[in-house]
Amino acid sequence: MSLRLGEEFPNFTLNTTAGKFQLHEWLGNKWGILFSHPADYTPVCTTELSRAAKLAPDFAKRNTKLIGLSCDSIDNHHGWIKDLQAYGGPNIQCTGDTCKLVPHGEFPFPIIDDSERKLAKQLGMIDPAEFDSKGLPLTARAVFFIGPDKKVKASLLYPATTGRNFDEILRLLDSLQLSARLPIATPVDWKVGDKVMVPPNVTDADVQKHFPQGVEIKKDLPSGKGYIRMAQV
Ligand code: BEZ
Repeated sequence: MSLRLGEEFPNFTLNTTAGKFQLHEWLGNKWGILFSHPADYTPVCTTELSRAAKLAPDFAKRNTKLIGLSCDSIDNHHGWIKDLQAYGGPNIQCTGDTCKLVPHGEFPFPIIDDSERKLAKQLGMIDPAEFDSKGLPLTARAVFFIGPDKKVKASLLYPATTGRNFDEILRLLDSLQLSARLPIATPVDWKVGDKVMVPPNVTDADVQKHFPQGVEIKKDLPSGKGYIRMAQV
């Protein structure tokens, strides 16, 4: 099974470092990002999970819950979390101009036990080209963006040999959340604050309604068609 955009993400019962729960109930009405890893105590996964932990407040600000998955046991995950926190370095908390080092508290998001690779297989996350030390095919680096309606809004699939870019994961989340709120699309390399594009299916009447400050229409293209409509939101 591989999940398509718009399909409901299955309500798996998950055994995690934060206990056993059903995914939908745990997500409540928030956005969710489920991301998978080949294994604990592996170098690239360590860089990714440490970075995700550092960015936990940025995801929380976006009303989004993170949940990792790695093909190892809960006991292994708990041991590895100590490495992840040490690798990520101390936490720094700033109030106004004053910053201080604070001890690591609990790891900021759960990691799912998929030691039997049941979820990895069900979600089509097995990479047939990469093998672990026992000769078993590795789990790829998948990312599922789940909306508050539990539907898949976007997904990424990287091989085990390429670490993901968490700035891009945040950027994609920002684009998904903005386009869930307004009839817009975001152009190449867009980031929060940049102009957005008005897609072709938005009528002139809807332009008036959603973009009262108006849109810029680029007409100096060879076709002369005014299909490039940009707005600041
Ligand atoms: C890693 O996380 O470093 C890794 C895991 C499996 C294959 C390649 C790299």
